Amino acid sequence: MTYSVERIRTDFPALRPRKDGTAPVYLDSACMSLVPDAVLAAMEEYYRDFPGCAGRSLHRFAEEVSHRYERARERLSEFVGLGDPRGIIFLRNATEALNLVGQGLPWKRRDRVVITDQEHNSNLVLWQRLAEERGILIDVLHLPEGDGFDREALEVLLKPETRLVSLFQTSNLDGRSLPIGEIAEQVHAHGTQLLVDGCQAAPHVPVDLRKLGVDYYAVSAHKMMGPTGTGFLAAPFDRLLGLRPLLSGGETVEWSTLSGHALRPPPHRFEAGLQNYAGVLGTGAAVEYLSHLGLEEITSHDRALNARVTRALEGESRVKRLGPDDPSRRPTIYAFAIEGVNASDTALFLDAGHQVMVRSGRHCVHSWYDARGLEGNVRASFYAYNSTSDADALVRGVQELIERVPSKESKPPTGSTRKTPVARRGKRR
Ligand SMILES: Cc1ncc(COP(=O)(O)O)c(C=O)c1O
Repeated sequence: MTYSVERIRTDFPALRPRKDGTAPVYLDSACMSLVPDAVLAAMEEYYRDFPGCAGRSLHRFAEEVSHRYERARERLSEFVGLGDPRGIIFLRNATEALNLVGQGLPWKRRDRVVITDQEHNSNLVLWQRLAEERGILIDVLHLPEGDGFDREALEVLLKPETRLVSLFQTSNLDGRSLPIGEIAEQVHAHGTQLLVDGCQAAPHVPVDLRKLGVDYYAVSAHKMMGPTGTGFLAAPFDRLLGLRPLLSGGETVEWSTLSGHALRPPPHRFEAGLQNYAGVLGTGAAVEYLSHLGLEEITSHDRALNARVTRALEGESRVKRLGPDDPSRRPTIYAFAIEGVNASDTALFLDAGHQVMVRSGRHCVHSWYDARGLEGNVRASFYAYNSTSDADALVRGVQELIERVPSKESKPPTGSTRKTPVARRGKRR
């Protein structure tokens, strides 16, 4: 199939042109992606045609949803190269998946976890809480500025008490990626386990967990064209046997008496209570849609868009970009600040003046910005449905803003108060 972004865009109702003839320019897929018709249809089909609960009742609605629910599990297992549907646990998001592993491991006091200094709060606050509650120790791996990975620095942190290394595959802050396969080898050589936050990678690149040798992989499906509030943990079956479930309740037990119970094997012991069936079926449809587009094709599409923006803004001395210089090493994200312009104002200006939706702030990696004395920045993120005209709209918006707001060097006339172009709408994280 040839990759036609014009055709792909017709699958996304949110991208349809509005009454004034303009189409939204959605460059915030790293926060949440848009959903295609196929996902909406899968969810609607559930509510319209077989709105039952899986795994409990024996009637036809229940049978149908049970079958489709498990089929979605199989699809996800294939999608991330796990090859065993029993290793897929449906959850609300990657945050819950990371918590399931963190809270579920049998920690002893003074056991250690290694994280990087560029983790999303989902992969930071959890460990701080476990440090307080269970006495674990956190070691922070400082990543080289911009790009690269320091194997020696990790080696120093891998101590006999290190039970887990937990890090991102692709950063939501600047789009850089870590060499997960090599890290898994290094970590395993010390008898330590590896938890990977796959939130920003799984939607964009082919993932083969068996090849990578990852122990636990956390994903949010709402960043990969799935419905909101859906995600999953992927892990080899034997790893799941070592985790204590986060929640207890219906569907998790083989039997119970007034004084005890026996847990079902994974994955069911981790899916307590009635599940988000529409969401899971929507996730299954999302994965099918992505596989149909082709992950390799999506990667090269992201790359081309990012290269286009990078090239166009290269000459703008007031644009300060984060992450690797080479856009192909951060294909999904163009993170930047305009010197002399607040990041939230930039985002508001792009939205109001150019229909360009981006994210601004500190992207849930507060410590990284604090360590560099930065207030935050703007993040444009690309996905399969973005067109070159989306990229060009971003560039035009940034260039116009630069022209409109003079830099500190070009002093405003005495007495004038330089105003940022749009009023503040509120603080974002
Ligand atoms: C790298 C990374 N990890 C974790 C998360 C948390 O994802 P969620 O809020 O869907 O659980 C995000 C969300 O932006 C992210 O980008």
